[in-house]
Amino acid sequence: MPNPALSIVEDAPRAARVVADLLENVIRSRPDAVLALPTGRTPLRLYDELAERNRVGRIDFHRVRTFNLDEWVGANRDSAGSYARFMDEHFFSRVNLQPRNCQIPDGSRSDLGAECARYERLIREAGGIDLAILGIGRNGHIGFNEPGTPFDSRTHVVEVTAETRLANRWSFPDGRVPTRAMTVGIGTILDARQIVLLATGGAKANVLRCLLEDPIDPSFPASALRLHPCVHLVADSLAAARLAQPAADSGRSPR
Ligand code: GLP
Repeated sequence: MPNPALSIVEDAPRAARVVADLLENVIRSRPDAVLALPTGRTPLRLYDELAERNRVGRIDFHRVRTFNLDEWVGANRDSAGSYARFMDEHFFSRVNLQPRNCQIPDGSRSDLGAECARYERLIREAGGIDLAILGIGRNGHIGFNEPGTPFDSRTHVVEVTAETRLANRWSFPDGRVPTRAMTVGIGTILDARQIVLLATGGAKANVLRCLLEDPIDPSFPASALRLHPCVHLVADSLAAARLAQPAADSGRSPR
């Protein structure tokens, strides 16, 4: 069974730099790389780092194509809390990505099933995902694949758990978090040629331990990542605090 590569670094800014380095390498070897991108608080530093590297000419996003992992049902670019708006604000508006190359599931469509199928088709037509960057929810969800999601799932609509809605409340000024979302499936994620999972902060310590030590089972969606041959976990010392050998800056090195 493949073991994820693990980098444990001192703090969240360093973790963001490690992931930015991985992404930079992918784009250097493939300037039109296809990326899957996360939202949440964890990747904010990563997006800052990527924007800076783009500003100084170190990473060129001109030909890069991106697919976001998920979106709230009912959300569009203008709605508060939408991931489209999040991405515009924190990443797309700050780098030289071309808008036509940036895809996010459209949560405002009336036929959500057709939108899921369209999204899955777009990923396929792009040649598949070269690098998927993931965060992780406290119950082990990746994208919005909540516990119980089959490992072979494709893009679909989900009922978001109360726990996950609560964790996402910060992004809704009125506190009204939607109950449903669209997400790429676990199967879609596992098809990516390379996967990086970024986890920072003490609130992720328990989930990271489960990810590495618990049985591989749909009740813990992120455990599916251990089936993938090329996964790299990047954690800061707080998130790694409950792993067997937490040691800042001395992580098992990437493959
Ligand atoms: C949301 C997103 C996930 C993300 C998770 C963790 O539920 N759908 O893709 O990984 O939040 O967010 P945070 O980084 O804020 O802990």
